[in-house]
Amino acid sequence: MRSRPLLALLALTACGGGKPTYYADAKPIIDARCATCHQEGDIAPFPLTNWEEVEPQRGIMEFSIRAGTMPPWQAADGCNDYENDFSLTPEEESVLLAWFDADAPMGKPEHEPEPVEAAAPWPADLSLQLPEAYTPTREPDDYRCQIIEWPLEEEAFITGVRVQPDQRALVHHTILFAIDAADADTYRAMDAAEEGPGYTCFGGPTSGEGMIPEGATLQEILEMAQNGELEGGSRWLGSWVPGAEALPFPEGTGLRMRPGDLVVVQMHYNTLSAAPVADQSSVELSLADAVAKEAYVLPVTNPGWVTGVEALGGTMDIPAGESDVSHTAALDASSMVLGRARTALGLPEDSDLVAYTVGHHMHQLGTWGRQSVVHEDGTETCMVQIDDWDFAWQGAVHLSQPVTITPTDTYELSCGWDNSAENQPVIDGQVLDPQDVTWGEGTTDEMCLSTLYVTGP
Ligand code: HEC
Repeated sequence: MRSRPLLALLALTACGGGKPTYYADAKPIIDARCATCHQEGDIAPFPLTNWEEVEPQRGIMEFSIRAGTMPPWQAADGCNDYENDFSLTPEEESVLLAWFDADAPMGKPEHEPEPVEAAAPWPADLSLQLPEAYTPTREPDDYRCQIIEWPLEEEAFITGVRVQPDQRALVHHTILFAIDAADADTYRAMDAAEEGPGYTCFGGPTSGEGMIPEGATLQEILEMAQNGELEGGSRWLGSWVPGAEALPFPEGTGLRMRPGDLVVVQMHYNTLSAAPVADQSSVELSLADAVAKEAYVLPVTNPGWVTGVEALGGTMDIPAGESDVSHTAALDASSMVLGRARTALGLPEDSDLVAYTVGHHMHQLGTWGRQSVVHEDGTETCMVQIDDWDFAWQGAVHLSQPVTITPTDTYELSCGWDNSAENQPVIDGQVLDPQDVTWGEGTTDEMCLSTLYVTGP
């Protein structure tokens, strides 16, 4: 993946000149960067917690590290820095590669450094459990939404979200949505219409029905977009993938919840590492009565893609058989999409927006993605670059320094797809044939959507 000979040399010197060993050098890194998922009962297919477990896997471990596929951190180097980055640092990578190069010696257990004490987790104020246990029925991937009634009777702000998977070996990712009280019955009806706990959903919190009424005029669609109605009354609360440390939201910020709202929890179950059993995961939230700056998770996309209306940017066509298709949305301050955050947060029309956390969302044909802010003078601030998209690992990145989007900036979102026969999803054990694809909520539709956790200045 990357070669950094100078750093490798420095790291070797740091090992005292001798050959790196498992106990003295590799184990602390593997414990911190791999065993978080590679442990008994967790999402990864085999454990890597001790010498007996690591030794037989060292060949594929080296392969996956050199290929850059493990740890499965999605954001590429050289774009921005992230607080929740769980990839290997260049130093850690070169220590491990030097250890493989030295034929992975064991060393002596007494040379293992004292483990670094883990920081205490942030306190949770409210735990919400899925109302019913659900056993995945589709293999290997089952996407299931369950509705949780928001229990508080006063307005409150969510200041942190953490998923507590019940069956760690099955839960691949989780996305949380809030539903406005006014739209709650639509979601309750979706739940009631399907047998078993919750309902089938994919990508978003709906079962895939279009949100735009037949025959709507352009003006009506524009108004729906401005009022957030294209999201079906849903707001993003956050997403979670295994391995990513759940950070609280940025200091002093939070997402508003009102009495009567719903929380929809979308679970992505994957049965490659474990047989399906009943899962009843929970979500832990930290709360505040008030926050210094209200935040909003802004879903950003090209309105033309969602509506199919030419005047709004046209459709997001991904023709069957084409291996390199891309689309870009370039949105300036006057766009109704960015305007949506200002409306939701009660900010003036010419207000700056400050982005702290960036999510990128495509479906299964996606190959790469990029988000950036292009400034008036032509310079650019890269927010996130994903070179090798994997639907299963779509966590949000927490920017180490928030990025401000001013009224003279243009925000750009790009996505790339491969719709050739070589890159088709496997659904219920069947590899699909390429077909013409466009925007949609379904498993075989595509999306190019970002979620920006923003506040006013
Ligand atoms: C965030 C969780 C997570 C972390 C951290 C992680 N792995 Fe994995 N690993 C997985 C999962 C899940 C799989 C199964 C394949 C998949 O879903 O991508 C896997 C598969 C593998 C495989 C099988 C080959 C492959 O690429 O599918 C190897 C080897 C591997 N991991 C090595 C490592 C090493 C070495 C580290 C640390 C440097 C590491 N993993 C860190 C979750 C993780």
